[in-house]
This record gives sequence, C-alpha cells and structure tokens, in this order.
Amino acid sequence: MVISAAAELVEHAERHGAIMMVDDAHASGVLGRNGRGTVDLFQLHGRVDIQVGTLSKAIGVLGGYICGTKDLIEFLYSARARFCSQLLIRPVAAACLAAFDILEAEPERIEQLWKNTRYFKKGLTELGFDTGISETPITPVMVGEAAKAHRLSAELFNEGVFRQASAFPPSRRIKPACAPS
Ligand SMILES: Cc1ncc(COP(=O)(O)O)c(C=O)c1O
Repeated sequence: MVISAAAELVEHAERHGAIMMVDDAHASGVLGRNGRGTVDLFQLHGRVDIQVGTLSKAIGVLGGYICGTKDLIEFLYSARARFCSQLLIRPVAAACLAAFDILEAEPERIEQLWKNTRYFKKGLTELGFDTGISETPITPVMVGEAAKAHRLSAELFNEGVFRQASAFPPSRRIKPACAPS
C-alpha cells in the first residue's frame, strides 16, 4: 500500500525533526471523512506541517490551497511576486464552497466515485493497460516511452477523449490532427 505509508513517513519526520508535507491533490474530496483527505484518513491531525491540494480535481473547480502555520502562510503572502500570485476570484471561491457543502451532504457521491474507479481500473487492466500503483481514482496509464504517450494522447483526442500525456523530461509533442499548426 502506498498511501498508508503516510503514517510511517510522519513518524520518521517526527523522529528526525523533518518537516512533513502532504500533497493531497489526489485525496481531497476523495479520502477521509467526506473527502477531508489523507491527514483525516490516517488520523494524522496536527502531525503534518504543510498540506497542499488542488481544487481542480474532485472539487471540480480550479486553483489550489496550502494549509500550514500562520508563519508559513504569512511568508507565502509576503512572497506573492513569486508564489500564490493568483487569488481565487469570488465565483470560484463560491463554487468551491458549494462543492464542500455537497461533499458534506452527499457522501454517496464518494461511494459512487469509488465504484466508477473500480470499474474503470478493472476495464483498463482487462484491456491490457498498466495502471501503475495508483490507489486513488486518479488512474495513470503507463505506456513507457514519452513519444508513445503523446501518440496515445493524440489518438484519444481523435476519438473525442481529451487526455494530455504526462512525460518527463518534456518531449516533442505530437499534435492532434485538428490542432492548429
Ligand atoms: C500530485 C499532484 N499534485 C499537484 C497537482 C497540481 O494540481 P493543479 O492541476 O491544480 O495545478 C497535480 C495535478 O495533476 C497532481 O497530480
């Protein structure tokens, strides 16, 4: 199990005086009570120094968040020329609040998400795709070479599915047939 390593990492960080940060991009709105995230799932409240996440995945809006000490947040605000330069505009903040209300009121949506996830991962596996070691609904399809990933992405686009390839280091992208030249 990968995500359950979170508790172990917290113990190591505490033992060695290290700062612990959790990136909950794949967990907020998904794991823990009503989607409260990794810290809640593993009951690590108060033991993680920095928690970051996105509002663009399960929350379905855009932007992100950073939770940490007052000093950290003040530092980030004071460094706004480099970080956190984009504030959430009101409609975005309102949509996020509405999403949190829905997560509180309709936890069955998270159950449905997991049903869909199991169905999707099983289907991909049966078709012979390698979905890596993901333990959340975010499901990678590991194809190996970056060029192959870009080709798959382009072919999916031609079939009406938009999924950009992720590769490192960034490599030459193969444009979908309808992309402007
Ligand atoms: C693990 C992880 N962290 C952070 C991010 C960044 O999220 P955003 O797309 O909101 O910038 C992503 C996005 O894919 C992600 O997968």
